[in-house]
Amino acid sequence: ASPLRLGIAGLGTVGTGTVKIIQKHADLLSARAGRPVTITAVSARDRMKNRDVDLSAYGWENDARALAVRDDVDVFVELVGGDEGIAREAVTAALNAGKDVVTANKALLAIHGQELAELAEAKGCVLRFEAAVAGGIPVIKTMTESLAGNEIRRVMGVMNGTCNYILTRMENAGLPYETVFEEARQLGYLEADPTLDVGGIDASHKLAILSSIAFGTRPAFDAVEIEGIERVSIDDIRRAADMGYRIKLLGVAQMTGRGLEQRMSPCLVPADSPLGQLQGGTNMVVIEGDSVGQIVLRGAGAGEGPTASAVMSDIVEIARGVRMPAFAQPASQLAKPIAARTAVP
Ligand code: NAP
Ligand code: HSE
Repeated sequence: ASPLRLGIAGLGTVGTGTVKIIQKHADLLSARAGRPVTITAVSARDRMKNRDVDLSAYGWENDARALAVRDDVDVFVELVGGDEGIAREAVTAALNAGKDVVTANKALLAIHGQELAELAEAKGCVLRFEAAVAGGIPVIKTMTESLAGNEIRRVMGVMNGTCNYILTRMENAGLPYETVFEEARQLGYLEADPTLDVGGIDASHKLAILSSIAFGTRPAFDAVEIEGIERVSIDDIRRAADMGYRIKLLGVAQMTGRGLEQRMSPCLVPADSPLGQLQGGTNMVVIEGDSVGQIVLRGAGAGEGPTASAVMSDIVEIARGVRMPAFAQPASQLAKPIAARTAVP
């Protein structure tokens, strides 16, 4: 069988992790995909950077947009990041050129998902993004495939590992927010713009993607009511613990009689519940379907191996010839959501 030829843009944490899996598991992937999975060329900003992975067998493009439209690339894998600029331009170029696209970019999907899904559909291309939500946890495929027979009632969870690390460390070590925030920065946990993490924005991007799949609505990040963890104090955490609760940055999406409710805010959860027990950088997503009941998915929400694992699941799916709409149903059928506003205290 002909190989599936990849062009990988972005060779940071997720990009190098993806290259490593393809190199380490070439035979396994070929057996599972039914054809070899190969890398044609890669792209990043700095060609001279040491990336702890051998790239000598691959071509190089300085510009991800050029990589996206190469004739010898079947699938463009976007692992650069950002909702505008090079990521959006390269993904758009790839789809316009008839390439399938795999991305881990939650910001891009949450904000421009509808337009990109429509473009993919118009061009007969596949757009997949398992890694965009909750890193290594296969939440998108669980919802789109395994729970396809369910009406989803509610999706909720802890979807930002950095915030969960900060909140659990504050409680376990009795340290104030500012000290733990600084610790997280030094450990390299925070995004380049830390507001994306602690302001609840990153987690809200993920929630917007999940609620689109769950409720058949267009991704609507601007309709998520967001409160971050910046104002959570050690006293709040102690008072919650005294009452048998923990504070978690919890995302909740549900369809109500007033419309689609999407909320991301620090919430009290019972300390002995699965969500309350969640420690450190781990993520948890809880899905409630009318037939299946409640499903709880837990695992690593970030990092090289877990996130690249999710990227690979999309690549293998495409290699197998699976052609699913981006948000579980045709983009043209996704409803414009009516946002049900609730007052976040
Ligand atoms: P990263 O480590 O910062 O790597 C970004 C890569 O993009 C770098 O290789 C960088 O090149 C390249 N790049 C940046 N600007 C570029 C440009 N203008 N043209 C070409 N290349 C450019 O990021 P990451 O953590 O791997 O994240 C990648 C994507 O995965 C993001 O969308 C992120 O949100 C998503 N994601 C990440 C995680 C995670 O755990 N890290 C988890 C889930 C999803 P240089 O190396 O040359 O600077
Ligand atoms: N900053 C994100 C987190 C990375 O802490 O969960 C993974 O999306």
